[in-house]
Amino acid sequence: MDKKIAVVTGSSSGFGFMTSIELAKCGYYVIATMRNTEKFSQLLERAEQLGVRDLIYVLELDVTSQVSIHHWRDFMRTLGRIDVLVNNAGFAGAGFVEEIPLDEYRKQFETNVFGVIAVTQAVLPLMREQRKGRIINISSISGRIGFPGLSPYISSKHALEGWSEALRFEMKPFGVDVVLVEPGSFQTSIWTSGKHVTKKSLDEKSPYYEMMKKLEEHIEKGASKFGDPTEVAQLIAKIAQKKQTRMRYMIGKGVKTAVFVKNILPWKLWERIFLRQLK
Ligand SMILES: NC(=O)c1ccc[n+]([C@@H]2O[C@H](COP(=O)([O-])OP(=O)(O)OC[C@H]3O[C@@H](n4cnc5c(N)ncnc54)[C@H](OP(=O)(O)O)[C@@H]3O)[C@@H](O)[C@H]2O)c1
Repeated sequence: MDKKIAVVTGSSSGFGFMTSIELAKCGYYVIATMRNTEKFSQLLERAEQLGVRDLIYVLELDVTSQVSIHHWRDFMRTLGRIDVLVNNAGFAGAGFVEEIPLDEYRKQFETNVFGVIAVTQAVLPLMREQRKGRIINISSISGRIGFPGLSPYISSKHALEGWSEALRFEMKPFGVDVVLVEPGSFQTSIWTSGKHVTKKSLDEKSPYYEMMKKLEEHIEKGASKFGDPTEVAQLIAKIAQKKQTRMRYMIGKGVKTAVFVKNILPWKLWERIFLRQLK
């Protein structure tokens, strides 16, 4: 295969869907992976409309399933090359710490952290032998700043950040680049599906109920102002093609300012400003 090959996880919707399209538009042969391949038709229809249908191949990949990862890895071995891996699949677990069963944290980490590690481990031998490759991990502003009511998600993205830094150092000598993309809030189904809010925090009897409602209102009110996810997909495609990369790429309204302010202010002051914003 003389075309560059890119793999995207979680291509059934949101950033993954759009990134698969953008990469194909840039001439990559894209292995668009999704855990439920019944969702493939929308992606292929869109690709058809844009004249890139021949550059997209849909494959099943559930990042939490070793069996699924092994099948996918074997397929990649037959192709014999991988230029870009976009670790995008993820979800956002919400609720308040006291009320979140440990199992929900485990599930969150299973997808957002261990899923990324397992998929990456499957491609590292190939990339190392090629002496080139790019791994683009989709983190979040939630990997840089803690928010109340979202601790499963926040902690998973913080873990992803540290792990990605370590991997970048490990793979540099082999010509493999590891990059983090840190979006703010964008209009995808991640914030609206509500599937991953822990039950107890939605119960009126919960001591955290009012705070949970406020958080939900905050998201609902802000949703219309969330960014266009195409911008993130375009950034990812741009990073894939760069000669040299940075460790981190922030994108989204107010993200750079928020991270900068957090990093320079003493915690006490940051906390005061942050809590005032939440009110
Ligand atoms: N939207 C934002 O504002 C925002 C901001 C910062 C970071 N992010 C990050 O961007 C990434 C993509 O999210 P999105 O916003 O595009 O949300 P989305 O539209 O809900 O897409 C999430 C994708 O991940 C897939 N997925 C979930 N668990 C999976 C698993 N075990 N195996 C394979 N695929 C799985 C979903 O598949 P199904 O269709 O089967 O559920 C879906 O394709 C996530 O890592 C998220 O944390 C999003």
